[in-house]
Formats: sequence, structure tokens, C-alpha cells
Amino acid sequence: MSLFNVYPLFDITPVKADDVFVFDENNTKYLDLYGGHAVISIGHSHPKYVTAISEQVSKLGFYSNSIKNPLQVQLADQLERLSGCKDYELFLCNSGAEANENALKLASFHNGKKKVVAFKNGFHGRTSAAVAATDNAKIIAPINAQQEVEILELGDLEGAEKALAKNDVCAVIIECIQGVGGLDESTAAFYEGVDALCKNYNTCFIADEVQSGFGRTGDFFAFQKHGITPDIISIAKGMGNGFPIGGILIHPNIKASFGLLGTTFGGNHLACAASLTVLEVIEEEHLMQNAKEISAYFIEKAKEVSAIKNIKGRGLMLGLEFDFPIAELRKKLIFEHKIFTGSAKNPNLLRILPPLTIKKEHIDLFFDALKKELK
Ligand SMILES: Cc1ncc(COP(=O)(O)O)c(C=O)c1O
Repeated sequence: MSLFNVYPLFDITPVKADDVFVFDENNTKYLDLYGGHAVISIGHSHPKYVTAISEQVSKLGFYSNSIKNPLQVQLADQLERLSGCKDYELFLCNSGAEANENALKLASFHNGKKKVVAFKNGFHGRTSAAVAATDNAKIIAPINAQQEVEILELGDLEGAEKALAKNDVCAVIIECIQGVGGLDESTAAFYEGVDALCKNYNTCFIADEVQSGFGRTGDFFAFQKHGITPDIISIAKGMGNGFPIGGILIHPNIKASFGLLGTTFGGNHLACAASLTVLEVIEEEHLMQNAKEISAYFIEKAKEVSAIKNIKGRGLMLGLEFDFPIAELRKKLIFEHKIFTGSAKNPNLLRILPPLTIKKEHIDLFFDALKKELK
């Protein structure tokens, strides 16, 4: 059987990894400024993470959500403490799309409405309602297109008011910093305006923190730069450092009832052990502080490179915009300099999403390589 060919692959086969480095089968070492798409938060193969998962699987890897799982309770407690999101409740699932799917569904259950407002260049995953909330026709199948979605320009507060005033919008879903789209971010006034509109019109504000959450921006959540209180916060990627886990944080205004949401694998023992270790290491190793410091260093160095026309993003969720498509540059960085970076929907944007453990010396390696390639 061959693999269903949906991914254009780079001809590299990683077989092991250590912190910010990945090694292929020839033991060639690559600097990972991509983090497997913003997934690696505490560094590859962190010893605490390896131990926690190994010990957990040797005791109990999985049992269903029909029994008590104290690890879920611990995870909810630690998440509340570290994120500062007081009194939210946690529902666990397995991926970012699933988190957003549950968020949208829960919003609709909560207020009885069914239309979604989302923003141009947003990305929320590839499942039914989540994929419909993008403006990328290529990834929306006819079966998804039946969802009622209005896509607005990021920053269009007037458009948001017009849409919400019709009183049929269950949720507004926003990435406070867009990931896949290319690191665009609107103003605090916009996010706060949308939050106020949501409260006024009984619409749920869903903050999609799948990529920007778990300390990546230097704050626990990207929305926390603004004065907003999302009704639902979706999380995944950095949450498990590669172990599949996602979830939603649910404001206490939204009430649970038996059977409202459910999952077989979500919140299993192994996934919880992985995510608990991620939180422990983020705190112990001051990784949010590190994200801020390294980000400032990175931005200073980027300012010295005249070919870089725009520096976007926050913390270790950064984008370098050039006035030419970056595809070739990205290939050169990978194959000649052994550095992984990311691309975006914006073809001129190089994305930087390293493990939050990265150090200045690694940033220097990147800029040395970039300068050589831009000569
Ligand atoms: C902001 C955002 N939301 C949702 C998703 C979907 O997550 P997953 O691929 O885990 O389903 C992604 C993935 O890139 C994302 O960046």
C-alpha cells in the first residue's frame, strides 16, 4: 500500500532529535526553527518529557473517559495556574481542528445560533465547521460548504457589528496572531471591540490559540495582550510537545451537561502526562521569559538585514517578510545550511517557530546563513 499523496515532502528523514536539533539517518544535524509547525515547545526529547511518558505508559497508557482520570484534573489545575485563566473549565481532545470543532459546536449549543464569523487568511483546521471558517476554497469540500460562515477582513469591526446584529451568529473565531496566514495581527481596539460585540449580541468569542498558545508568544496566550475575556480558548500544538493533545478552555458562563461533548482518546493518560510535563518545564525553565528575550534578540538582528522588509509576530512566533517569494531561500536554508524554517500562505514570508528553549547562539547561526544566502 502506498501513502495517500497529500504532502509535498522535503527529502529529509529525521530519525532522532535533541532540544533544538533534529538528526537524519546519516546523522546530519539540522537546526529546527520550525518546531514541526509550532509543536515543539519544550525542545525535542526533553529528558523530563521522555521519563514522564515512559513511566506513564508502563503504568497505564489509556483508559476511556468513563472512569476517573486524576491526570486530567491535575492538567486543568496547572493550566489554570500557569495561564492565569481563572475559573475556566477544560475539555480535552486530540488536535487543533478538533479543539475548534468542539469550540464551534459548543458555542452553537450554548446560544442556539448557527452562523460563524471568521477572518480572511485565518486557519482553524480541516474538519467540518473548522475548515468552513477559512477563506481557502481549495481545502473546503462541498460537504463543508454547507456551514454558514461570513469571512471578514481582519480589523473590520463595522462588518463584525453588522454581522452580529442579525442575531444569528453563534461564534466569532479569531487567531489573535494569524499563523498559517502569515503572522498578521490587528489592534487591541479591534479585538476588544469584537469581544464587546460578542457580549452584547450573545455570541461566543473563540480565541484560537492552537498555534499561539502555551507560551509561544512570550505570554501564555496571545490574546492576553488585549483586554478580552474569550468564551472559549482552543489549544493544541505546543500543549503536548509532539504528543497529540488538544483542548478547549470554557468560560464558566457556558454550562456543561452529560453527553454535550465527548471523545474516545481525548485526555488519555499518556497525553495528560505529556502535557503536564510541558507545563512543568515551561515554568521551571522560564520558557515564556526566554521566548521574550530571544524574540527581542532575533528582531534586533533581523533589523540589520536590509532585504527583510517587515518583521511580524511576537515571541517565538515570528515572520520575516521579503519582497520576493521565499520558497528558494527556504530550500537553501534547509539543504545548504541545515536549518528548518516555515512558509506561510503569504509567499514572501519566512516563518520562525522554534522550540521555546532556543538560545542566542542558535539565532546567530540562522542569521549567518541568511546573510550568506542573501548576498
Ligand atoms: C491556528 C490554528 N488552528 C488550528 C489548527 C489545526 O490544528 P491541527 O492541525 O492540530 O488540526 C492549526 C494548524 O496549523 C492552526 O495553526
